[in-house]
Amino acid sequence: MKILVLNGSPRPNGNTAAMVNTFKKAAEAKCHEVVCFNVCRMNIKGCLACEYCHGKGNGVCVQKDDMQQIYTALKDTEMLVLAAPIYYHGISGQLKCVIDRFYSALYPTAPASLKKVAMFLSSGDDDMYVGAKFSYDGDFVGYLGLESCGVFTNHDPDVTARIREMANKL
Ligand SMILES: Cc1cc2nc3c(=O)[nH]c(=O)nc-3n(C[C@H](O)[C@H](O)[C@H](O)COP(=O)(O)O)c2cc1C
Repeated sequence: MKILVLNGSPRPNGNTAAMVNTFKKAAEAKCHEVVCFNVCRMNIKGCLACEYCHGKGNGVCVQKDDMQQIYTALKDTEMLVLAAPIYYHGISGQLKCVIDRFYSALYPTAPASLKKVAMFLSSGDDDMYVGAKFSYDGDFVGYLGLESCGVFTNHDPDVTARIREMANKL
């Protein structure tokens, strides 16, 4: 399976990176292809709401920045992993920009290949996930109808084992 991981943490050795690395290792051990983007190191602007993509653009975003790499990867991805720290009760702004830019590629429907989704979240306090989970459940599982492989947080003492278990079952 081809898996696209979007890491929205700017900390290369942070909690989100640890979850991403655990997942990548376990999924690759099962012969899945895992492509990771550290979106904080990319030049990705927010959506302009110009609607070019839903008109003349025919699904193509008018902005030409590093989001092009993610659009290309998305075309044949079968699983999407959204990984981010919690900043002020939501995912980091860097990953939010990427999700908003999905407007051209995942709205109103996702590419036919995309079937599964998972989320890795990291925060200082352990009751901070409601906002991020609301958007995951509403937009990716509910609206797009993707199969959820779970939401994993750094406050779960067994998170490493649980992520490995999820990857092994893919
Ligand atoms: C700008 C900013 C906002 C944050 N807001 C919250 C917050 O609202 N709630 C919380 O529990 N932690 C908050 N934190 C802490 C991070 O979520 C926490 O340190 C997280 O584990 C960092 O993940 P990382 O190591 O993957 O970068 C914030 C950190 C930063 C830098």
